Amino acid sequence: MKKELIGEGSEKYMKLFGWDSSPFVFKILPDLFVGYESEMQSLIGSLSNGSKFTLILGPTGSGKTTMMKNMINKIQGYARVFYVPKPPNDPDDWKRIFAEIVRPGFLSRLFSRPKMHDITIYEIGEWVNKRSRGKRLLLLVDECHESTQESLEWLRTLADQVENLSLVLAGLPVFEKKLSEELETFRRRIETRVELTNLTLTETRELIKKRIEWMGGEDVKPFASNSIQFIYDRTNGFPREILRVCNELVQQALDKNMSTIDPEFMLKSSLYEKRISIDSVEELPYRQRSILKILSCGAEMTPTQIVHEMDPKDYSDVGNAARSVNNILRRLSRDNMVTRERKGKAYKYKISPKFQTMFINT
Ligand SMILES: Nc1ncnc2c1ncn2[C@@H]1O[C@H](COP(=O)(O)OP(=O)(O)OP(=O)(O)O)[C@@H](O)[C@H]1O
Ligand SMILES: [Mg+2]
Repeated sequence: MKKELIGEGSEKYMKLFGWDSSPFVFKILPDLFVGYESEMQSLIGSLSNGSKFTLILGPTGSGKTTMMKNMINKIQGYARVFYVPKPPNDPDDWKRIFAEIVRPGFLSRLFSRPKMHDITIYEIGEWVNKRSRGKRLLLLVDECHESTQESLEWLRTLADQVENLSLVLAGLPVFEKKLSEELETFRRRIETRVELTNLTLTETRELIKKRIEWMGGEDVKPFASNSIQFIYDRTNGFPREILRVCNELVQQALDKNMSTIDPEFMLKSSLYEKRISIDSVEELPYRQRSILKILSCGAEMTPTQIVHEMDPKDYSDVGNAARSVNNILRRLSRDNMVTRERKGKAYKYKISPKFQTMFINT
């Protein structure tokens, strides 16, 4: 699997990190699945209870496809499994899909060819029941939000008719809305509903580690342990985002010939620069800018501490200064330039990381 990814620049990867290429490709690698344990348990549980209709919902990149494929590995042997990447538009195609699920083995096929074309979609349920011989059948359908209403109606009808069949449908959250608005009969049949959101910090680390080890690396290297928190904050633990951010950081490390990616490197990375250029700080009023500059050391400070750091020329008396600094801080906090946390009686303010870099080179 690794070899096919070897491409240009592989020498550099090898030299700096000991990899053939970047481990953070957008590729479905079911064996490297991490986290979502309770979701996986409820999925497997529902199938072993013979649930007919199960739903997996999640935003794009949350891991629906990977989860289904990982489940196939787990369940293979207990049931005949068939994965459909996208529901067909033509309902008649369901006929072919169902026929494929009960497709006989090679030898039996030699002697008895199923006469699919003679069967109408109305007869397929019974036809499948005869051929499945009591075997459990599992049909996994991905990208269901793309389906037409007609196609889903047929799928529901067929699923009702076929005994021993479990259906797992995956789609974007909007799919559930679509079901309740257009196919209430379908929605009511759903017994288990699994929602994928994001990985935890520990699972984020595990994802990164598995990808790196898959490429022949060790643990999370070149990422310093304390940089995982940054990746987590930046991606909210969203699997495809984790891959994207890691890949970008690795590319930048390659460009700069750096073999360690630590928080300092990240703070200077263009991942931050990109966001700052959007929120240009240049046009901020002088006082807002000077307060941000004081906070750019990264420390948490109370308004009084900030006043002490200010140039006395910038205020007429301390009482006035504290009031005005308070107002400015509130505004900066509203605009997400600083974060605010209550510490005892006072509020302490801290500059948001994306603005901190603004002052690093000044
Ligand atoms: N739990 C996970 N563990 C490890 N890798 C994951 C996990 N979830 C997702 N990934 C990785 O993140 C990427 C996106 O996952 P996936 O394609 O399964 O998401 P999806 O929900 O099906 O997205 P879409 O709605 O766009 O089809 C893939 O490269 C996959 O390998
Ligand atoms: Mg998918």
